[in-house]
Amino acid sequence: MWREIHSLDREEEEEEEEEEMEMTAQQLSEYNGTDPSKPIYVAVKGRVFDVTTGKSFYGPGGAYAMFAGKDASRALAKMSKNEEDITSSLDGLTEKEIGVLNDWETKFVAKYPVVATIIS
Ligand code: HEM
Repeated sequence: MWREIHSLDREEEEEEEEEEMEMTAQQLSEYNGTDPSKPIYVAVKGRVFDVTTGKSFYGPGGAYAMFAGKDASRALAKMSKNEEDITSSLDGLTEKEIGVLNDWETKFVAKYPVVATIIS
């Protein structure tokens, strides 16, 4: 009986670990592709994706390298690569832009593993 309870506990722990992997924006910034020994992360709507397999896009010299190590939600919504748009802020986005962002989110979910969520 103790064995059963123990194994239940372990399952719960493992599940929690997966759901509650959290990192700050500061920690996210360390995965910006400049250190080739680290994975590359991009966050969308606070969810952190491991985009290392998209290194040609997000690695040094890639067309979207400016998104690496950042939450790129606003930039994706606005189809912008401007520095000031590379933020998690959704303030004042139009319905259409939110739709564009959600389409990007769907693409990222399908293509890349989620590794964490951003906490403040
Ligand atoms: C003339 C302008 C642009 C052209 C010709 C272009 C072209 C492309 C191409 C060919 C791909 C690869 C698609 C694939 O193989 O899956 C791509 C992916 C992508 N583009 Fe653009 N793009 C342009 C502008 C932009 C802008 C302004 C943004 C800003 C948000 C953007 C964000 C992205 C992202 C995030 C990806 C996905 C990379 C991935 O799969 O992880 N693109 N683009």
